[in-house]
Amino acid sequence: MTSPVLWYATRATGIVALVLFTATVGLGALTASRVQGPAWPGFAQQELHRRVSLLAVGFLAVHVATSVLDSYVHVGWLAVVVPFTSHYKAAWVGVGTVAFDMMLAVALTSLLRHRIPAPAWRAVHWLGYLSWPVALAHGIAIGTDRGEAWVAWLVVACVACVLAAATGRAVATARWRRAAGATVPAAVLPGTRFVVARTDRGVPTSPGVVAVPSRHGERSP
Ligand code: HEM
Repeated sequence: MTSPVLWYATRATGIVALVLFTATVGLGALTASRVQGPAWPGFAQQELHRRVSLLAVGFLAVHVATSVLDSYVHVGWLAVVVPFTSHYKAAWVGVGTVAFDMMLAVALTSLLRHRIPAPAWRAVHWLGYLSWPVALAHGIAIGTDRGEAWVAWLVVACVACVLAAATGRAVATARWRRAAGATVPAAVLPGTRFVVARTDRGVPTSPGVVAVPSRHGERSP
């Protein structure tokens, strides 16, 4: 099957998927940085992150399907998941497949989040950061529209967005680590009963370690 419609669809959905993945990575970094306010609560960020990522996966599915269905070039279904097996531009389609596999792992482990250990889920989720530049490289290298000025500006905007989000995330993590390092554990603080903190099997995962004073006569745990 071949038609210009399939080709236009591959190009259009590729660009939209890239923009939506950029938004997903940005929102994910924002959520993890815990930059919140009354008009921008954490649960809304998480929900937006989740929904935008689902939308991105939808556009990516159409992008991949149309590129395979368009027999004008021979990509092949195997190339969707096995990198570098496409007959058409094997190297750069393969780079897209690598990004796709990483994003698939992130999406599947997120859907099964409550069934897998949190550290494993987090380790896989970090692939989201890695897959984004790989997908960008694929789009820039292979795209018919890469020479268009508006595409160049879109790419610049996407890169700026992810760099800003990743920097914000790194700064937030460094601040929170400093704050957590300065906190004396409750067990050695006289007059404290327990520490309230978001933890992942004993490892603090967020700022906000709060020592709650004990009532007279109570023992520290
Ligand atoms: C995360 C994964 C992916 C993203 C974000 C992505 C995004 C993009 C973008 C932005 C373009 C450039 C569109 C243009 O400027 O014309 C593109 C092109 C293309 N992609 Fe992907 N892609 C991904 C994965 C894949 C996979 C797995 C395949 C195939 C199995 C694929 C096949 C193609 C093909 C054949 C083109 C060339 C279309 C043309 O002739 O312009 N992509 N992709």
